[in-house]
Amino acid sequence: MRNYWLALLTLCVGFGPTGASAESSPEQPFPPSYITTDVGKELLVTDWSDPQICAGCHPRQWKGWNGSMHSIAFNDPVFQAEWALAEKEMKGELMNHCGGCHTPIGVATQTIKFDPKMGKHGGFTSEGVANHGVSCDVCHTISGSNLLKTAVLEHGNASIVLSPGNIKRGPLRDAKSPFHETAFSDHHTKSEFCGNCHNIFHTTNNFPVERTYDEWKYSVYAQKDIQCQDCHMVPVETAIRVADELTPAKKLKDHGLGGIAGMGGVRPRGLVHDHGFVGGNAVVAPLMGVQGAEEHKAEAIKRLQHVAELDLAVKHQSGPLHKATVTVHNKRAGHHIPTSLTFIRQIWLEVVVTDDKGRELLRSGTLDENNNLPEDTFIFSNKSVDENGKPTHKPWRIARFEEMNTIPPRGKRLVDYAFNLPEDAKSFTVTSRLHYRSFGQDVADYLLGEGAVKVPSVEMEMLERQYGAKDLKVVAQRSSNDSAERVAVTN
Ligand code: HEC
Ligand code: HEC
Ligand code: HEC
Ligand code: HEC
Ligand code: HEC
Repeated sequence: MRNYWLALLTLCVGFGPTGASAESSPEQPFPPSYITTDVGKELLVTDWSDPQICAGCHPRQWKGWNGSMHSIAFNDPVFQAEWALAEKEMKGELMNHCGGCHTPIGVATQTIKFDPKMGKHGGFTSEGVANHGVSCDVCHTISGSNLLKTAVLEHGNASIVLSPGNIKRGPLRDAKSPFHETAFSDHHTKSEFCGNCHNIFHTTNNFPVERTYDEWKYSVYAQKDIQCQDCHMVPVETAIRVADELTPAKKLKDHGLGGIAGMGGVRPRGLVHDHGFVGGNAVVAPLMGVQGAEEHKAEAIKRLQHVAELDLAVKHQSGPLHKATVTVHNKRAGHHIPTSLTFIRQIWLEVVVTDDKGRELLRSGTLDENNNLPEDTFIFSNKSVDENGKPTHKPWRIARFEEMNTIPPRGKRLVDYAFNLPEDAKSFTVTSRLHYRSFGQDVADYLLGEGAVKVPSVEMEMLERQYGAKDLKVVAQRSSNDSAERVAVTN
């Protein structure tokens, strides 16, 4: 009898409120997305304001946002191409899912249209402010989280309550604006706010495809009350201090980020937030030629060049055989590196060993003439496969990760390389480099078309050591920390 009830319970849980084919209901009006609205009427795009209207009084926030990934979350050609593939393969079932985070207004107003003739695979259009992706008024009219309505009872899959209207919600308790009403929102000051969109689980099998928020939640940063906002809503220089001092941005001594939060504001505020939301993407905004893209790219490169640290060790094995171990530390990211699309983003090691006679003893991870990585390259990523175990980069096909090689916050990974040292060598040099790119050339060619873009790489770190052949003692060392002049981008 007990087993019977257990079986019934499992059955009920199994058929919970999940599924791409779920019917629209008051609880979940735009399935499979978890967006709800609380205004009690059908919404129009004109219920939200255009960012240009906010720009007049909030120039500082606008300057950061314009050119950010949030400002192009809908038009991003890489996203549009992948979304178009999903639209065709899944017969429209995922339109609200993908749109939910990339254009919440488009979903809430049901104004998104698929055009099979756009781009290589098709594309989407919407109306007015919905074209601006995650815009000012999207974030500042979010009034709560629907985490308890999701299939996994966690933030994610656009678990947001939208309350478009005259009340702008934010971190200030006593804000007064001549243009709009204001309301204090604790939610906006916490990672959970971001987690509503920076956590993605599969719509039917619930697999956590992207889990930046989860990674943060179980990290030392969460333990120290350091939120996403502390690293992504301040300049990179400040974020470096946040990570090193394990202190939230507003508690740092002399952070120098105070000022007027809006024209006509009652008084200067202790910390006005940067709205560039800089991550690692240095390719898409410049590709689209949007205003502010170059500054955004420079910040992204700076961020990437201050996240990791390399270490090297060499051991003799037997005969001529030696082993070089490269350690990669995740020093300053509040989540794994890479995070989010861990099956598409590429962080990899390039290792070269040469001896004093100029002979190359080992080479791994050097891009070939077609901008592709050799098979044996060590890439920090998760290998995604579908339910039959076949490799796939399509989020809607992913059933599990076959291998997980990302580096946890404040964690490290060790990678071994073997090489033979010739007997007549007096010394040898190991050069290790850590590189980042948003996606491989094959993915770019597939999504955007052959030759549409040559994917740039950013050199994150470099460490080179010369060793004596007999005693394996370090003779000389060079690293990217030595000089401000780094080899930044290869293209
Ligand atoms: C992705 C969501 C998001 C977008 C898009 C966004 N904001 Fe914000 N904004 C926030 C969050 C979160 C805070 C509070 C951060 C904190 O206190 O930790 C904030 C803070 C603010 C504040 C309070 C003062 C300050 O800067 O700290 C103002 C004013 C503001 N935003 C205006 C804007 C304007 C104008 C735009 C568009 C140009 C915009 N925001 C776009 C999330 C967003
Ligand atoms: C829960 C919110 C959410 C949902 C649902 C979602 N995305 Fe995203 N998507 C994101 C976030 C956040 C990023 C940025 C992550 C990053 O850059 O690290 C992103 C980035 C991407 C990118 C990379 C863009 C680039 O320029 O590199 C692609 C492609 C993409 N999403 C496709 C999709 C598709 C297709 C779907 C639907 C099957 C989808 N997304 C559903 C939140 C979401
Ligand atoms: C006519 C000028 C003006 C316009 C236009 C304007 N704001 Fe404001 N806003 C202000 C002022 C002034 C404050 C208060 C600043 C303070 O008290 O430090 C403010 C405060 C805010 C806050 C903080 C609320 C809180 O309690 O934390 C947010 C968020 C905000 N505005 C968002 C927006 C958005 C989004 C738009 C565009 C739809 C917009 N504002 C348009 C002047 C304006
Ligand atoms: C309404 C959904 C939504 C919310 C809320 C949101 N984001 Fe995003 N965010 C996105 C999407 C979608 C993208 C990816 C756009 C793309 O690549 O096309 C993105 C991109 C980013 C990126 C750029 C990633 C890169 O590769 O460079 C960062 C950083 C980021 N978000 C941080 C935050 C933080 C911090 C918060 C909370 C304060 C937040 N986001 C809140 C949807 C959201
Ligand atoms: C201690 C500082 C810190 C905190 C806290 C932090 N991040 Fe990051 N984040 C970084 C750094 C450094 C990078 C660049 C390395 C990378 O791209 O992986 C980054 C990269 C990203 C990216 C781009 C990843 C990619 O390469 O596509 C996204 C998206 C992002 N963060 C979102 C978030 C969200 C959401 C939170 C909170 C849940 C958060 N971050 C908390 C430091 C931080």
